[in-house]
Amino acid sequence: MTDGSSSTDSHSGSASVAARIERRWAAISIGIIALIGVMAAYAGIHRATMPQTQVETIDPTTLHLNGEFIESNLGSAIEPDGSVTVRVVGQQYSFTPQCILVPTNTPVTIRATSPDVVHGFLIEGTNINTMLVPGYISDLPVQFDKPGEHLMPCHEFCGVGHEGMWGKVKVIDKFDFLQLSTKGRRLNCVD
Ligand code: CUA
Repeated sequence: MTDGSSSTDSHSGSASVAARIERRWAAISIGIIALIGVMAAYAGIHRATMPQTQVETIDPTTLHLNGEFIESNLGSAIEPDGSVTVRVVGQQYSFTPQCILVPTNTPVTIRATSPDVVHGFLIEGTNINTMLVPGYISDLPVQFDKPGEHLMPCHEFCGVGHEGMWGKVKVIDKFDFLQLSTKGRRLNCVD
């Protein structure tokens, strides 16, 4: 009998310990969910109330005639500080340049826009994923660690030729990239 009652005691003891641990974990889980909720609300409200630090606009009807998006200025340019700026135009139904050439381990800024309708701009394997909106310049920082090729599909339905609107990004060794560059010339990898 004594054995039976003591085992019941220890059983109820461990049950209460288990309940206490369970309550603690429940509280921690609720705390994590509440924290994520606050972070999401803050990020949403903050971004809604604070516009991007710079919204750059451009006249989509004349961007091929003057300014930074004229054809001869499209492609990759080496800046005086050693970084690279890539200028791209997405139009129905292609990207110019169709093959973007960038070096490894170099800060790259992609500046892109559209002269006609909204296009999608995505570089696979990176977090570059945005839209090209006529009248606005999309300015995107990116850096590539290793050589390789990344597909660059338009992912915003832009008309009957949308399915065929593809480009790619070719990442080559920084040294090779510098070898290719000559003063003032814009680089790309279009054959
Ligand atoms: Cu451009 Cu879809």
